[in-house]
Amino acid sequence: MVTIKSKKEIEIMKEACKIANETQKVVEKAIKPGISTLELDRIAEKYILSQNAIPAQKNYPNYYKDMPPFPGTLCISINDVLIHGIPSSDVIIKDGDIVSIDLVVLKNGYHGDCARTYLVGNVSKEAQELVAVTKQAFFEGIKFAKKGNRLGDISSTIGNYVKAHGYSVVKEFQGHGIGKEMHEDPGIPNYGKAGKGIRLMPGMTLAIEPMVIMGKEGVLELDDGWTIISEDGTLTAHYENTVLITENEPQILTL
Ligand code: MF3
Ligand code: CO
Repeated sequence: MVTIKSKKEIEIMKEACKIANETQKVVEKAIKPGISTLELDRIAEKYILSQNAIPAQKNYPNYYKDMPPFPGTLCISINDVLIHGIPSSDVIIKDGDIVSIDLVVLKNGYHGDCARTYLVGNVSKEAQELVAVTKQAFFEGIKFAKKGNRLGDISSTIGNYVKAHGYSVVKEFQGHGIGKEMHEDPGIPNYGKAGKGIRLMPGMTLAIEPMVIMGKEGVLELDDGWTIISEDGTLTAHYENTVLITENEPQILTL
């Protein structure tokens, strides 16, 4: 069921989303060669707790699989790791890495979700281009995040933009509605057909999140039950914001 948020609910969500964006900025400042992903996770968790909010990804259940819940505050996914990388003291950020940070904040019963891919030190031109295209795919997509349009207008725009740059779109994972639950209807694929899917209405809150592979389509899941990597081993990138559909232009709540 797709939920329509009231004015009051939207005010609460804006707070969760604001803290999510602030947490990204705290992490961005801390990312540098030599830091472990577990240290980054601790920094983010401390900040979220200081805002009297909850790191919602921590202990998030592994649905469909008999595997442990997600152990971190952040999903930290480096280079060929696409999403759901587990923070670890053994994983050290190094010069030239592209590091995606995905986080969800829960405050007063509502969630805010955003992801960025950061460039660490001297990153190759090719990797920079991948990260830029992934981010721009989000902004191309939300040009259609307007009342009366269809979900497929957003999805198809993202997919076409990514393909036009010679990259592959991820089909195994998608964006999602968000609110009281981290994952609500509708699912928001990063590919599809314009004119198809549900009609967008004011009060819908959507986590729109292009996930892109530099090389061939296809992902693999590691034995930890979480980490998702590109099957061909090429670089990957992720960019996400929580977006509110309004009477007019969409509002990006996590920026
Ligand atoms: N933030 C992710 C998303 O966009 C969810 C990650 S799963 C978790 O859907 F277990 F880490 F929470
Ligand atoms: Co997310």
